[in-house]
Parts: sequence; C-alpha cells; structure tokens
Amino acid sequence: MTDPLRTLGCCYYPEHWPRSLWAEDARRMAETGLTWVRIGEFAWERLEPSPGDLRFDWLDEAIWTLGEAGLKVVLGTPTATPPRWMLDKHPDMLAVDAEGRPRKFGSRRHYCFSHEGYAAESDRIVTLLAERYGRNAHVAAWQTDNEYGCHDTTISYSDAARVAFRRWLRARYVDIDALNAAWGNVFWSMAYRDFDEIDLPNLTVTEPNPAHALAFRRFSSDQVVRFNRRQVGIIRARSEAPITHNYMGRITDFDHFAVGEDLDFASWDSYPLGFLEDRAGADADTQRDFARQGEPDFQAFHHDLYRAVGRGRMWVMEQQPGPVNWAPHNPAPLPGMVRLWSWEAFAHGADCVSYFRWRQAPFAQEQLHAGLLRPDSQPAPGLEEAAQVAREIAQAPEVSATKAEVAILFDYDADAAWAVQPHGAGLSYFGLVLDFYKALRGLGLSIDILPATARDFTGYRLIVAPGLMHMAEGLKSALVEAGAEVLLGPRSGARDGEFSIPVPLPPAFPGLDVTVSHVESLRPDCPAALEQGGAFAGYREALEGAARVVERDAQGAPAMMREGRVSYLGGWPDGQAARRILSALCARAGLDTVALPHGIRRRDTARERFWFNHTAQAVTVEGIELPPLSVTRLERGAGG
Ligand code: GAL
Repeated sequence: MTDPLRTLGCCYYPEHWPRSLWAEDARRMAETGLTWVRIGEFAWERLEPSPGDLRFDWLDEAIWTLGEAGLKVVLGTPTATPPRWMLDKHPDMLAVDAEGRPRKFGSRRHYCFSHEGYAAESDRIVTLLAERYGRNAHVAAWQTDNEYGCHDTTISYSDAARVAFRRWLRARYVDIDALNAAWGNVFWSMAYRDFDEIDLPNLTVTEPNPAHALAFRRFSSDQVVRFNRRQVGIIRARSEAPITHNYMGRITDFDHFAVGEDLDFASWDSYPLGFLEDRAGADADTQRDFARQGEPDFQAFHHDLYRAVGRGRMWVMEQQPGPVNWAPHNPAPLPGMVRLWSWEAFAHGADCVSYFRWRQAPFAQEQLHAGLLRPDSQPAPGLEEAAQVAREIAQAPEVSATKAEVAILFDYDADAAWAVQPHGAGLSYFGLVLDFYKALRGLGLSIDILPATARDFTGYRLIVAPGLMHMAEGLKSALVEAGAEVLLGPRSGARDGEFSIPVPLPPAFPGLDVTVSHVESLRPDCPAALEQGGAFAGYREALEGAARVVERDAQGAPAMMREGRVSYLGGWPDGQAARRILSALCARAGLDTVALPHGIRRRDTARERFWFNHTAQAVTVEGIELPPLSVTRLERGAGG
C-alpha cells in the first residue's frame, strides 16, 4: 500500500467576503501550497435566507472559483447553525440545559438532537446540498455538521429528548420491571409503573440514580450517532466523495467511535494554546512554561485517538495558526510552533492539516481569532509557517505509517460512567487515561489508542486499560489471551453494564486473584504515598487476594498486584509513580524506554523517528541535538 501524500488546507468562509476577493484568495491559497479548502459549514442563512428561498448561486461560484485555482473543496453541511427563521417554524427545537432553560439563538449549536422537526430540516438541507454538489468534480470530501458536542451541546433536557428517551428505554428494557431491577429502583421508592413515568435526570432534589443518569448519557450519545448517520446516508446516496466529521479536543460525551463507524475518515480541531488554558489539565508550571507551545502530549493524544476513530485515516480539519479568542488567556504561539504542530500531526498519521482560518474576520465573535491572513489580507505570522510546511512536504520523504507496540484502551462509555459518579472532585476517566498516556510518552514510546470493542491485540507488547468501569467478558478474555503485559485498574470492571457493583467484587478478572474490597477518594492535599516512590493521588482502592503484591503503600498495604502478565493497580498514580510503574512494566514487556525531558517527545513511524522539541531551548537527548521549537526526522536505526 502506498501511503497517502500529506497535504495542507484551510477553512474559508466565502460568504464573509466580497466575491471580488474569492479568486485572489484561491490563488494565494494554492500559491501557499494548500491543497484543500473547507467551506460552507455555517452558511445556512446565506443558502436559505427564509424558508424555501434557496440561493445556491454564490456557493456554485465559490466552489468553481476555488476548484479552478486547483483546490479541492471539503463541503460542510450547515446544520450547526440553523437560521433564526427555524425557530418560528420549530419553536421547541432549542436544546435545553440542565436547569431547564432553553439555549437561545445568537451563536451556534442551539438545536436539540432529539427534535424530529429539526432532524427533518437537516435531512432537507443536506439532501439539497448533496443533490447539487454530490457529483461536482471540485467537491472532494464532505464534513457533517461542525463539532458535535462542542459548547456542551450533546445533552439536552428538552421535551423532545424526554419523549425520545422513553422510546429508547422501552426498546432497551422492554419490561418496566426489568428496568426497575436493573437500576435498583427499590432504593428510595424510585420504581416506575410505566416507561411514560420516567423523566429526564435533571432538577432532582439530590443526585439522580446513577443508572438513570448513565442511561440518559448513553441515549444522548446514540442521538448524536443517529443524527450523523442520517446525514451520511443522504450524502452517500448522492456522492462518492469521502465523508468526515470534525471532532473537538476533549469532548467526550458521545461515542466518537460509534459516530466514526459511519464515516470514511475522522478529523479533529486542534487548538493547542486554547486547550492548554481550558482543558488539558496541565499543572501551573506547564501552563506557564508552555503557554506559547501548548501541552506537549495533549495534541498527540488526540491524533492517536482520532486515528483510531477514523480506522487509520485522520485529518486535522482546524489547526490553530495564531492566537485564538476563546480561552481564558490567548497568547500567540512562539515562532515555529505552527510548523511543529503540523509535523506532529503528520507524524501521528494525519493525512491533511488544515488551518483555521484563511483570513481573520473583522466582525462578530471571532474577530480576535488569528487567521493565516490579517483582516486587511496581509500575511499573518502563520502564513509563512504553513508555506514552509508545504515546501517541506514537497521535498521531504513521505511519512510512513506504522503500528505501535503499546496500546491504550479508550472508552467513551467509561468516561460517561466516571462523569456520573466521579467519587471525588476533579476525577475523570479522560484525565486518568491522559495521565497514563503522558507517562508512556515521557518514556519515549509511540502509542496506539484502541476502542474497548477491540479484541485483536496482535503485535502489542503492553496494553494499558485503566478505569474501564464496565468491562465486557469478551474484552477480559481477549486481554488474557493477548500475550502482552496488561495493566488494569483503578476502577476496572467496577460496575456491571447497568451501573451496579458486581458480585463477585471487581475486577473479577480471569486468572487474576485480586479483589477490590473497598475504595476511597482522597483530598488533593492527602495523597497516599507509595513505598517505592510517588503516590496515589485523588483515588485509591484496598486490594485483597492471592496474587503477588508488587507495589505497597507507605504503610505496607497492597497497591498493585500481579498474576502472570496481568497487573492490577489500585489507585490513580501521580506522575512519579506512573513513570516508575510503567517503566518497570515496559522492561517486563521488552520495550526500550528513555526518560525524556518534559517538552521533548518522539514518535516512530515505519522508517523514521520524529523528535519534537516543544521548549524554547536547544536540548540534547540520546546524543541528538534538538534545536529550540524544532522537528527532527531521523531514519530509524541511524542513531534515532
Ligand atoms: C472551533 C470551531 C470553529 C471556530 C474555532 C475557533 O471549535 O469549529 O468554527 O469557532 O473553534 O477556534
């Protein structure tokens, strides 16, 4: 198989600019070395200013102009921005927040996924677009909607959601007594006599039944899958161009793998500096030291995650090119970072890196968001870096994809379970998995992320599966048979599929005589020190059983136990403990590791080792000199 050529692109809004600018913009994009241009995803009002008044002529011309300049168009469906008139037609289509308040018109993503009237409007506009452009030679890919779930929009407590949730529950449980038994509704006299008695789990006096809350999250995830599937079905019937969706960073409240099954490739929107500020969970030192570079593992984690969601095919649909507008603080990237982020994406398997956006908008919400051009069309600093990457792609060898030897499992259902019952402030499944990922990357390892539905673990020497609250029996046996070192815990198999504590007690893992006898969450200022260094922070478990104790806490209680190649870790390790425990496991698995300084990361492809220096200083590692803010490509085996 020949590897796909790496390409660049940008996000463009022809409807924001006079037509007289389009041809010149297109020419400059091509001249910069861009291949792709994504358009259309927020343009519903321009396409249909009032119901049924269709104005596609401008989009025809925009696509033609861009295509004639040699660019390939990714056409977005505009369903993230239903125009104002939609509310007159469907006054109850708005998403409703947990306090029961409709989310107003005036920004975007205001629709509720469960509203049938809106879903039909989505079908209609997507059909019109697909019929008109499905065979257009310049439309080479499609994007459905824009960033499902962004701005906290997966979950809606609307009347439409209530109706659909009851239908979903009826299909899942059939019998109301089965639901009552599964949820443990005998507790607090919560039993229902009919599915129509069940409400949404918001505005309860104290917390709702976690089984109820988890069911609602699963339902809400299924609604996103369903909404996307409708668009994909309509486009596919009319176009052969591949279909993607642009996922966001650390949005986990719907199952991205399930949405991904309907797509041809995954894409995601990478805003390293915004993420560092508002969601990477970085400590204060990292926030300060990497304020203009971003958290060194956060983007890599998402590249690896979305490579899995796209079954090997992944793009960065939106790449930060300069300061953004939406984080608590919005510094400019250091010179070289736009290039570094682009090459990092390629090294992690991206086929395309597309910058958001071509030209900075002088109006509306994102007027302080940089583009590749300034509002006056002069080059912004990102433009030259994009052009440099384009030149480098043309000159450098193709990036060769490869499989890693370390796998981490990531499961959106586990994330939902942790969200429903974190057990301690600030504890999240995503945060736990990211901590393991960071520790492994700090040991110089390349990682594949796999869904919890994976059963074939051929080729992996180490499989890390923390925090999977519910583990299917098929997954447990596949891990036993994987022949790899397997790390479980904390909270592995801690709940059955309906959110009860299973008996026999967790993890009930075949061939591993370990029982979690009880659990506790810890105040941030009360970590539990481990005998060999580091600590459990935030959460720990008491372990019993005949398996060998390989870690103890400072009081001598078991902290990690092992039988054969399966180890169970009874707590959330801090950075020091995670590094120590994982490097010992890597040694058992026969994996070479190196302790990389913070900010230095590497990634192996089939033929090369990429080194990334995210720091503003030159650093020498393993005898290799890495200039500040640099990308270094070395043939593997040639000192790399
Ligand atoms: C993304 C979004 C874009 C734009 C961008 C600004 O989340 O998809 O439309 O808003 O953020 O950084």
